[in-house]
Amino acid sequence: MKRIFSGIQPTGSVTLGNYIGALKQFVELQNEYDCYFCIVDEHAITVPQDRLELRENTRKLAALYLAIGLDPEKNTIFIQSEVPAHTQAGWLLQCISYIGELERMTQFKDKSHGKEGVSSGLLTYPPLMAADILLYNTDIVPVGDDQKQHIELTRDLAERFNKKYSDILKIPEISLPKVGARIMSLQEPLKKMSKSDPNKKATITLLDDPKQIEKKIKSAVTDSEGIVKYDKENKPGVSNLLSIYSIFSHKTIGEIESMYEGKGYGDFKSGLAEVVLNEIKPIQERFYELLESSELDDILDRGAEKANIEANRMMKKMLNGMGLGRKRR
Ligand code: TYM
Repeated sequence: MKRIFSGIQPTGSVTLGNYIGALKQFVELQNEYDCYFCIVDEHAITVPQDRLELRENTRKLAALYLAIGLDPEKNTIFIQSEVPAHTQAGWLLQCISYIGELERMTQFKDKSHGKEGVSSGLLTYPPLMAADILLYNTDIVPVGDDQKQHIELTRDLAERFNKKYSDILKIPEISLPKVGARIMSLQEPLKKMSKSDPNKKATITLLDDPKQIEKKIKSAVTDSEGIVKYDKENKPGVSNLLSIYSIFSHKTIGEIESMYEGKGYGDFKSGLAEVVLNEIKPIQERFYELLESSELDDILDRGAEKANIEANRMMKKMLNGMGLGRKRR
């Protein structure tokens, strides 16, 4: 069985972008692959975090993984900081990364731009992400479009390591969703929908109150044409909503365009709110049950145990390959 690895940062609430770009792919892939799904809390601390909120968000994200339908019997679900090999392998990969290539990462540029006191962890974030992936002999990494550059760097680092030291790291492939690899802001449709957007109307989160979700969809920016048609360049707002509609309704964009021919944006947005809420409401119900359960802790304990065994196996090979410490058998 081929191996999948992916992770999400427990920072703020999970957005519709995270759901469509990553989580929905996880649910689809779980039946065909051996999957490792991680809550990457060590990545979260590359920018300042409140420790209580971080801990709460970590638990919430774990509960959400299950609430969306990830089966803990089939998948390994765990918290990054409970598997120390991630930071250890991250350090080894930092030592073969060049500052120039890390400075060129758009995520680093965006998150550090105009900020004072940028942590060095923000710069060395990509080798840690590469470690996450490479420790597990990963074949495929399901992510949204914004992670493409990081996956390319992961491949480069793996090739560099294999050439320089020992040919042990598998070169992973990226998996992007066919529709919705980049869900855009509801208020500025040329910008990515992001957890950190200060304008709350721009982002729908999976835990928003249903009324709030409806309101946010109703106030999403469109255009003055009044025609429901996919045209990313000239109608970015409507096109983004059409992508979301298509994903939640399992209808093609063409089918949705036909459904709303001759109708205005009001009807279109009501229809969109309905399909989104149909899927999200049951997730929210399961989420609140799971959050309070001890089942969640058992699943995370089992996940960490299994992930530690797997990651330590590769860690040993990497240390041997680089000539660190005494030779391990
Ligand atoms: P993060 O936590 O920012 O986002 C989690 C996932 O959601 C996707 N995503 C989107 N997809 C579509 N449209 C959007 N607007 C949108 N916003 C976010 C992201 O592409 C991602 O798949 N560096 C990663 C976390 C990470 C990771 C890993 C991922 C750490 N180690 C190893 C895969 C493998 C990140 O910051 O994701």
